[in-house]
Formats: sequence, C-alpha cells, structure tokens
Amino acid sequence: MARITAGVGSSHVPLLGVAADQGKDRDAYFKPIFDGYDWTRKWIADEAKPDVVILVYNDHASAFDMSIVPTFAIGCGERYAPADEGWGPRPVPDVIGHPDLAWHIAQSLILDEFDMTIINEMDVDHGLTVPLTMMYGAPEAWPVKVIPLAVNVVTYPPPSGNRCWALGEAIARAVNSFDEDLNVQIWGTGGMSHQLQGQRAGLINAEWDNRFMDGLVGDTQSLRSIPHIEYLRETGSEGIEMVMWLIMRGALGKSTKCLHRHYHVPCSNTAIGHIVLEPVDGTVPPSPTLEGNNAAAQ
Ligand code: DHB
Ligand code: FE
Repeated sequence: MARITAGVGSSHVPLLGVAADQGKDRDAYFKPIFDGYDWTRKWIADEAKPDVVILVYNDHASAFDMSIVPTFAIGCGERYAPADEGWGPRPVPDVIGHPDLAWHIAQSLILDEFDMTIINEMDVDHGLTVPLTMMYGAPEAWPVKVIPLAVNVVTYPPPSGNRCWALGEAIARAVNSFDEDLNVQIWGTGGMSHQLQGQRAGLINAEWDNRFMDGLVGDTQSLRSIPHIEYLRETGSEGIEMVMWLIMRGALGKSTKCLHRHYHVPCSNTAIGHIVLEPVDGTVPPSPTLEGNNAAAQ
C-alpha cells in the first residue's frame, strides 16, 4: 500500500534557482539559505528516499494565465518541462510524473467531492522546480517522480486555509487506497510573508511566519481558520501562498513532529522558510461520501 511518510514545507523563491544554476549557492548572500537545506538533502537521499512527491505549488502565470484559473489542479501527465519564465527555461531536468498514482488520486478526490482540474500537459515554473533544487541539488535526472498539484493563489479568491487542509486529508485517503507499495511525500511550497508590489513591497513579518511554522507541529488545527484578510494584512499580498503548506499539513493527519526547521531573512523579497515534518498519528477523518461514491462508480 502507498503511504505518506513525511511532509516538507519550503519557500520557492526564483532567485534561488538562479543562484543554484550559476553555482553561486555558497556565496556569502546565499550560504545561510542553502546551508539550511543541507540536513534535508542528506535525509532525503540517505534515509527518507521517497518514490513519489506530491508537490503542492502555484503556477505564476506560466502554464495558466487570466484565460484559465483552476483553483485546484492535478498533473496526470508522463513528464513536465521547465517553463520559460522570460529568460529561457532553467537548465534542470524534466520532471517525471506518476500517471497511475496521479489518476488514482484524481478519481479519489473527485469522488470525495473535490472538483479537481486534470492536467495532462503543462510546463512547470519556479514554484515547482526551485523546491526540487533545494532538496536534491543539481542531479542529471530528478531521483523522484513528481505529481504536481497546482493551487490558485494568484487571482482572488484563492481557496481558504480550511479547504486546503481538508484537501490534504482527502489526498491522504487517496494515497492510502493505492495498492502499490509506494513511499510518498507531500510538499507544501511558497511563502513566507512577502509582497512584490505596491506601497508595502518588501514587507516581511518574521514573527508571524514563525508562529505559522509552530502551528504545523503537533496536533493543533488552529492554522485552518486564519482568514484571507489576516494573510493579506500580516504577510503581504503574496503571503497567501502559505495556504499551500496547509494541504501538506492536512495530509499528515492528526499529529506531527518536526524533524528539521530553518528560517532566514533576507532571501530576495521574502524570508526563506523550510520545515520537515513526520506524521506521529497519520489518522485522517473518514469522508462522508467517498465510500458510497466509490461503490456507485463500480
Ligand atoms: C519572490 C518570491 C516568490 O514566491 C515568487 O513567486 C516570486 C518572487 C521573491 O521574493 O523574489
Ligand atoms: Fe511565489
């Protein structure tokens, strides 16, 4: 049976992709950022070794634009190329999908009454490739299969934190019902507090960010109820990216423990935030509808 064994939270700052691609990742400015991922790189390569990562991220007008804005979308394709974000695609390998598991998750989520958009073809931008770089460095091929799960946090209204958490629980139910033995991780990316435009451009709220990271650990569910307006007021216009971390947290079940945590300012216009979590009690509530809808589908 497939199981979610760990969750990872990480910012996805595009500048870090540039630094890594140009070999500047241990220069004075970047060193304290990349050093904070050394523990995770060793853990993921030597110990955790996931077969598949469900990578929750947001597209930044690369694959989608104002012509189509899916709230939640799942990549069911075979592979995804790095997107050209204006200065050519990053020189990183294509991302290889896991269509069998992705289609299984898509079916389970939709019968669980989460109306996912299904994507078979798209390019993936820094939101997805930068976390892979932070966790795996610069390999010839990514050593893990990736199921992209894209969330709209660019155009209002984004989904609520509560809905994101519930989607995470539904993802855990989906993974738990996949027959093949697979070691699956879920990553939540984006954040931390940042605002890229307007009068408050450059805003960073380290105290709030750290309280958010505290709330991911243990069995509290207090982060579920943070309203959009609080993200906007306290963490700037782009801080809402943090709701994606709640999908990761929801998928880890009742309680978690923290294996590693890192926070550093500055990192471009934001703070780098990174956390590695393990489920302590991975129980998720049963769905009121999944079993009945599954039976009806057979
Ligand atoms: C920055 C951060 C982001 O999350 C992003 O998508 C783009 C830019 C930044 O801090 O520069
Ligand atoms: Fe972003």
